[in-house]
Amino acid sequence: MRMILFGPPGAGKGTQAARLLERYKVAHLSTGDMLRAAVKAKSELGQAAEGYMKRGELVPDQLVCDLVVERLAQPDCTNGFMLDGFPRTVPQAEALAVTLEKAGITLDLVLVLEVPDTLIVERITGRRSDPETGAIYHLKFNPPPADVAGRVVQRSDDTEEACRTRLAKYHAETTPVLPVFEAAGIVKRIDGVGTPDEVTARVIAAIS
Ligand code: AP5
Repeated sequence: MRMILFGPPGAGKGTQAARLLERYKVAHLSTGDMLRAAVKAKSELGQAAEGYMKRGELVPDQLVCDLVVERLAQPDCTNGFMLDGFPRTVPQAEALAVTLEKAGITLDLVLVLEVPDTLIVERITGRRSDPETGAIYHLKFNPPPADVAGRVVQRSDDTEEACRTRLAKYHAETTPVLPVFEAAGIVKRIDGVGTPDEVTARVIAAIS
């Protein structure tokens, strides 16, 4: 399976990806996770990306495309992959198309998790994650267990201000990516409102 997990910030892409990866043994390519790892490692890429991320802006296309193209060439992607958070602009989609065409690979599915903007800010500002396991929680919707609660952290871009910037970028720069995939007939839209279990059931039905 070669698919893209698509949707606004806070739609539940990371939450659903973690569940899907247990079921479908494919490589998970989250550009957000890769960029956060680069920031943590203080690499050249991380230093270039950090400011954009903190403000909720998109990291320049060339930096992200290089990262993804390099990652897609790794052996664990041969049996399939789930792109999460990429492509996010039309130039990124074009770079992906060139890379896949060169490799003779076609995409099977673009799964769009749809959540209205009115729910996004609450999801984002309440998100916490476990730095030891990477597990994603929410203070209200999915509280961390007592033995984890003391160590959860909040992402630096999970402020209300950065969230609104991210949402604006999503509508202005990311949704224009969809028509090309729609023309190819590979887009499925999933209602991302409901419990994580309900959403997972819809996602699995769509993949099947
Ligand atoms: P990235 O990490 O990709 O962030 P994002 O797309 O904004 O998505 P999020 O991680 O915020 O949300 P999610 O959809 O994974 O939701 P989650 O499952 O955590 O990117 C971060 C930044 O990196 C970007 O702003 C940009 O700067 C840069 N970047 C990354 N890729 C880039 C690219 N291609 N080009 C340029 N720049 C790039 O869920 C959110 C919360 O809701 C959690 O607390 C969760 O517990 C809760 N939740 C989940 N599902 C439900 C549910 N069904 N009901 C109730 N609560 C739920």
